[in-house]
Amino acid sequence: MTKDIYTPPSGPLQGSAPLLFPKMGQETLYQLSADVYQNIGKSEIADMFPKGEALMEASRKQAEFLIGILGGPPIYMEKHGHPRMRARHLPFEIDEFARQTWLRCFREALGDGANRGLTPSETAALMAWLEGFSAWMVNKAPS
Ligand code: HEM
Repeated sequence: MTKDIYTPPSGPLQGSAPLLFPKMGQETLYQLSADVYQNIGKSEIADMFPKGEALMEASRKQAEFLIGILGGPPIYMEKHGHPRMRARHLPFEIDEFARQTWLRCFREALGDGANRGLTPSETAALMAWLEGFSAWMVNKAPS
C-alpha cells in the first residue's frame, strides 16, 4: 500500500529565518539542540527518533542546520548538501500532533531565551519562525 502524503495547503514558508546566530553562537546552538532532543526523547514522538548516543548525534545535525539558517557557517550544507527539509522528513509520518509535540519540546528547551543570549522579542521571533517552518514538515493529514 502506498502512503498518502499530505501537502499542507499553505505551501513552504516564505521569508527567511531571524539572523540570530551572532547573538547565540555555535556552542549555544549545539546545547539548545541537545536540550530539545532530550525533551523529544521523553515525549510522545520519541519512537520516531534514534535512542541514546545516536539521538545526540541527531541533535548535532539539527544544531548545524540551525547554525546555517540563522546566519552562521553552512556546516550542514557542507556535510549533507541541500537541506531539502520536507523531503528528508518524508520517511516519518508527521501529523499536526507530532508538530505540536516537536514545537513544545523546542519551546521548553528555549524557555524565555535569556540563557541562550536572546531578548524576549528575539525568542518570540525564533519560535514564530519555527512554527511556520514546522508546518511545512507535516506530511500526514489530520485523521
Ligand atoms: C514538525 C515536527 C517535526 C518532527 C516530528 C521531526 C522529526 C524528525 C525526525 C524523526 C528526524 C530523523 C532523526 C534522525 O534519525 O536523524 C528529523 C531529522 C531532522 N529534522 Fe526534524 N522534525 C520536525 C520538525 C523539524 C524542524 C522545524 C526542523 C528545523 C528547524 C527540523 C530539522 C531537522 C533536521 C536538520 C534533521 C536532520 C535531517 C537529515 O540530515 O537527515 N525538524 N526530524
